[in-house]
Amino acid sequence: PKQQETLSEEELDEFLTSLPKEKGWRTPNLFLFQGFWCQPKEIRAIISIQNHFIAQDTDVILATIPKSGTTWLKALTFAIVNRNNFNVHHNHPLLTHNPHELVPFLEYKLYADSNRLPDLSLLPSPRIVATHVPFGALPDSIKTSNCKIIYICRNPFDTFVSIWHYLCKIRPESLGPLPIEEAFDLYCRGVTGYGPYWDHMLSYWRETAPNKVLFLKYEEMKVDTCNQLKILGEFLGFPFTEEEEKGVIEDISNLCSFQNMKDLEVNKKGKGAISVFENRDLFRKGEIGDWMNYFTPSMFERLSNVMDEKLEGSGITF
Ligand code: A3P
Repeated sequence: PKQQETLSEEELDEFLTSLPKEKGWRTPNLFLFQGFWCQPKEIRAIISIQNHFIAQDTDVILATIPKSGTTWLKALTFAIVNRNNFNVHHNHPLLTHNPHELVPFLEYKLYADSNRLPDLSLLPSPRIVATHVPFGALPDSIKTSNCKIIYICRNPFDTFVSIWHYLCKIRPESLGPLPIEEAFDLYCRGVTGYGPYWDHMLSYWRETAPNKVLFLKYEEMKVDTCNQLKILGEFLGFPFTEEEEKGVIEDISNLCSFQNMKDLEVNKKGKGAISVFENRDLFRKGEIGDWMNYFTPSMFERLSNVMDEKLEGSGITF
């Protein structure tokens, strides 16, 4: 597509006809765009981001595949970076806002409106923004500037269960049900939003050596939150002092914990933090190992084989 503000409806439709397509999870189709599977509206937004977003060295980019812990990572990063501005017990924005309102997505929020580009000067400094695209599809200025990228990775077994639940909730009735067997087949073939997941995680994993990317794991974050927060604070350039290590880290960990966030009024009743959906659907179980309640032995074998093949020798383990 040509370099312009955004593609028109007709231009997008025409471009889509040139792309391989598969059945979608919450839209009729997913399209293979720049090597990953994506929905039409997001393709348009991503082209716009690639053409227009200029990163600043102080930017923080949160990168995830859907359902791998994005909401949590947004909350934690916001809380760490802004810890001197708010009191976690009284006036903290996370007590009254869903994390997606405080840390916007590039493709679902800032560049989602095909009629106008965002006014990024409205974002507080340092700018914290999120994206689901794989590393290769980030705008060049993110790759070449000194901005920081945090990636959170989650066991693909649990991520599948989480995606399936979430997308069944928000999938329009007109598309009919998406049985778990069918969803699982798509997932194992890599056909999931921004997937294949293994390619997605590898794309960021490769950038950890030059220290461009901090690669976190949902599971480690869950069992060892305080230590992981220390690592996160250090990488962000907001290291915790010895004094803070005594209480502030734990305060942030508690503020952002699954149960605390799930029970907040804004997350029980609120709507629209991401698109038109209910905030409560973003908080389901928040556990490690829920896949065991859904996987048959043959599902276990199939996904294990795919992961062994795709991640072999990479150093990523679950
Ligand atoms: P489950 O469906 O397994 O419960 P994302 O934020 O990327 O959409 O990921 C959603 C997953 O993260 C869901 O997993 C959700 O329950 C879990 N989650 C949301 N907030 C969390 C938090 N504060 N701590 C831990 N997990 C959280």
